Amino acid sequence: MNFNDVFDERYIRFHDGLIGRASRDVDDIVRMSRAGSQTSFIEIGCGEGRLLRELAKRGFSATGMDASKVMVAEAATRAAAAGQAVDVFEWDIANGPLPKRYDVAISWFTSFGLCDDQACRTVLKSVRESLNHNGIFVMDLVNKDFLLPRLKDAIVVELGTSLMIDRLKYDSRSGHLRTDRIYVEEGKQEGKAIEFSVRLLAFPELRDWLLQAGFSDVELCTGGKDDEPFDRLRVRAST
Ligand SMILES: C[S@@+](CC[C@H](N)C(=O)[O-])C[C@H]1O[C@@H](n2cnc3c(N)ncnc32)[C@H](O)[C@@H]1O
Repeated sequence: MNFNDVFDERYIRFHDGLIGRASRDVDDIVRMSRAGSQTSFIEIGCGEGRLLRELAKRGFSATGMDASKVMVAEAATRAAAAGQAVDVFEWDIANGPLPKRYDVAISWFTSFGLCDDQACRTVLKSVRESLNHNGIFVMDLVNKDFLLPRLKDAIVVELGTSLMIDRLKYDSRSGHLRTDRIYVEEGKQEGKAIEFSVRLLAFPELRDWLLQAGFSDVELCTGGKDDEPFDRLRVRAST
């Protein structure tokens, strides 16, 4: 997949209004990873860098990487504008481990699964190999068990005179949720439709993939009682 086609300026414009809970997410990340003041973080798929800026603001060493050039440029610009010391670079983690090792890797807000299963497993191995001894990997993804019974055919997001329209279809053979996305400006479609798909996972499958990638301990961190459905799948894995 071409990450620049999906994660572009229009994605940033629409998602700025949809995401935004960086400080709450970083509270959860710090708690889940049991980070100390000297902990070094790497965010895999950092997007425009909201979590990196919040981590840097709290005094952590914060590095981000992303396969989309547009996102990397935006993360660097926003960190500089906010006066936060954040390192960010372009890389597709499916192409192999990072040049340096870190204490904690973060994959947050569905930055994992935008590829086929073989590449997903390579991503997990690459993350494992990019962590220090006693390293921690924390993940936040959509929970397949929650989403599938509630899946809609389409989602429309309105922003001023613009619309983002996603048509959704789940493929049970591959476990991928396919999205056909169009942007509409003042009633007219802007550019071509964009197609992408994300692998939906429930905890047992993700746990097995993480163990097979070499993580030693995998814990489900989503709160709530056992019989309550949870929308986000939050997982902590140790090296
Ligand atoms: C939904 S955004 C989330 C951004 C950020 N984690 C946050 O919470 O705001 C997903 C990001 O992950 C990146 N991404 C997905 N797969 C990747 C991969 N294999 N390597 C690097 N970046 C990836 C995309 O380019 C995109 O910017």
